[in-house]
Amino acid sequence: MTDIRKIIIDTDPGQDDAAALMLAFASPAELEVLGVTVVAGNVPLSYTSRNARIVCELSGRSDMPVYEGAVKPLERPQVTAEHVHGKTGLDGAEVPEPVMRVQAQNAVDFIVETLRREPAGTVTLCTLGPLTNIAMALMQAPDIAPRVRELVMMGGGFFEGGNITPAAEFNIYVDPQAADIVMKSGIPIVMMPLDVTHQLLTTKARVQRIAALGTRPAEVMVQWLQFFERFDEEKYGSDGGPLHDPTVIAYLLKPELFSGRDCNVEIETRSELTVGMTVVDWWRVTDRPANARFMRHVDADGFFDLLIERFGRLG
Ligand code: RIB
Ligand code: CA
Repeated sequence: MTDIRKIIIDTDPGQDDAAALMLAFASPAELEVLGVTVVAGNVPLSYTSRNARIVCELSGRSDMPVYEGAVKPLERPQVTAEHVHGKTGLDGAEVPEPVMRVQAQNAVDFIVETLRREPAGTVTLCTLGPLTNIAMALMQAPDIAPRVRELVMMGGGFFEGGNITPAAEFNIYVDPQAADIVMKSGIPIVMMPLDVTHQLLTTKARVQRIAALGTRPAEVMVQWLQFFERFDEEKYGSDGGPLHDPTVIAYLLKPELFSGRDCNVEIETRSELTVGMTVVDWWRVTDRPANARFMRHVDADGFFDLLIERFGRLG
């Protein structure tokens, strides 16, 4: 009997964030989602807040507490990704505006309060967007760092390069100062970088398998994916686009799908040419201590089998 893992999902929905949230909501026997915290990222906070609540309601989780966090990065000007996700961040499907309301408590205070309340080492942070909320919580309450069981993030890239600049992946690029604080926090970190997510393409065959589930959540997800993938299909000339954020949740459900190496990962925070770059000492050419498990390989078919099987449990 596996222990039910308590998690907080910090997110900037985004169609791929929506897939990660639905995967988590479809897995209550393994994951207890204590709350969803939203951050500005793919689209401004007002939309990421709206979108998180849309996904909660679509997944039958209108009871899920959603907390609003940072409206902008710690230092850098805000950068968003409407060119990928559309104006709302969930373009592609006609869905009703959410009825459920956000919590009154700020996301950063919720993260701090939860980590102080729950027994040390029992809460996992799952980050799907820029790390602003997490960095703000660590600055506000440094005592929470040793209480975090693990932080599993979608972010970074090394052998695969960047996706928002030649050097940087979007989540890190948007708030490199926040990423730097998190990477130096001492929290056990697992990184799901572009090196992994670019192996996970939403091919037509895979999207068709989701469509064949015949449920409303699956129908909406198919529409979201078909919108989301068009940008990357054109950019990479691929069949489908990389499905980034569900890797974080899939790791918690089936870690054996992934393999990587404990490495030192540093964040470029100053150079305008490479700001946001995750500098990964994969070959251990420095004596800088390992601070993250940098994932590089994934069983793509096993990932989509898990994703589609769990999607089938919703609705
Ligand atoms: O670079 C991909 C990441 O940026 C994903 O989390 C996507 O949702 C965007 O936030
Ligand atoms: Ca995201």
